[in-house]
Amino acid sequence: MPTVVDRGLEGVVVGSTQLSNVQGTIGRLTYRGYDIDDLAPNATFEEVVHLLLYGRLPNRIELETLRRELGTRRSLPEPLISSMQNVPKSAWPMDVLRTIVSGLGLFSPVNAHGEHLSDVHTAIELVAKMPTIVAAWDRIRRGLEPVDPRADLSQAANFLYMRSGKVPHAIEAGALDRYFVLLADHSFNASTFAARVAASTRADVYASVTAALATLQGDLHGGAASASYHTLTEVREPENAEQYVRDALARNERIMGMGHREYKVRDPRARHLEEMAHKLADHQGSSRWYEIAHSLEEASRKVLQEKKPDNTIYANVDFYTAPVLADLNIPGDEFTCLFACGRIAGWTGHILEQLADNRLIRPQATYDGPPAGPFVPIDKRDGTVARNS
Ligand code: COA
Repeated sequence: MPTVVDRGLEGVVVGSTQLSNVQGTIGRLTYRGYDIDDLAPNATFEEVVHLLLYGRLPNRIELETLRRELGTRRSLPEPLISSMQNVPKSAWPMDVLRTIVSGLGLFSPVNAHGEHLSDVHTAIELVAKMPTIVAAWDRIRRGLEPVDPRADLSQAANFLYMRSGKVPHAIEAGALDRYFVLLADHSFNASTFAARVAASTRADVYASVTAALATLQGDLHGGAASASYHTLTEVREPENAEQYVRDALARNERIMGMGHREYKVRDPRARHLEEMAHKLADHQGSSRWYEIAHSLEEASRKVLQEKKPDNTIYANVDFYTAPVLADLNIPGDEFTCLFACGRIAGWTGHILEQLADNRLIRPQATYDGPPAGPFVPIDKRDGTVARNS
């Protein structure tokens, strides 16, 4: 008889990876041995994509080759643009992203067995195309024509360009680039694990990434950034933060963007995002979102500490994502899609890692339903007694 592990698989090791390492007690995150504190200020997202997909940081020639490949793979098949134009304008951006990513599989080549290729180029294809989908839907739902991607811009700059039709300021493109770097991978988080489970059945990259997108959307995972932005809009002014936290906790609600399964200290990504939120606020000449977020973090720490002196609930990656993306004029309901545009590097890296040394992921559960008993024919069932009562 198997033993029940902790609920939510907490503390359970389900596999190994060379992609990233989360050290929750000291608040350290590394990608293939490189500390996020070094990568965030010094490496572009494209360098991190190379690191995760090819196993090492690129030299200049390798980086140029990757940039060119990303640039040439950004456009979407026309039927997918048309299908987005027929979607109700009220559709949630994550629903559209998940559906169109799944649809990309319809247009990708298959081998003699009818299977899509699941290789590094398919991974790069998805890294390249995801921002195009998000930007296209952003414009279509505003009643505008999508803007064609540009091959000469970075992933981050091109996304902002496709949304607005204007090449963004270097500070704005740099902020989004750093956001993508910080979000690129995070070990066996829920969506990455979902991607690996799907890949372990030998589902292809499109199917596995679709599983990851479905798993990302909930507000206990990638949906928290949108929820966190919603909180900032509800707090409205920095001085309302403490009362907001007290009221929310009294209603047994959670403060979105706070707390983490792995980190028992402040998430190391939060510091970089906070710095960027500050820098963007200076650049925009309006620090409203940054100031609300900052006082909400202070108030949350104070009130949670009062409730529990050994509090381990601190700001996570989603907390300062909200002011950063809000200052880039990205609507709150698109934040989870932006998370996905960074995390696609890690998802595809993990899918390739899983496929390279695959064994079906199939855990067990203990059974705590009714004991085995005789079958009851339909005309003998009165329907009033539940089988397990
Ligand atoms: N606000 C208030 N209390 C919180 C909290 C938050 N954001 N996060 C956790 N807690 C409290 C829980 O209420 C629980 O309290 P209790 O022991 O008194 O019942 C305790 O901390 C443990 O919570 P639990 O849900 O078991 O921890 P977990 O490891 O499963 O949760 C998260 C991790 C991320 C799901 C959780 O912290 C959370 O819901 N955060 C908000 C959503 C979020 O930001 N998600 C993005 C994560 S990157």
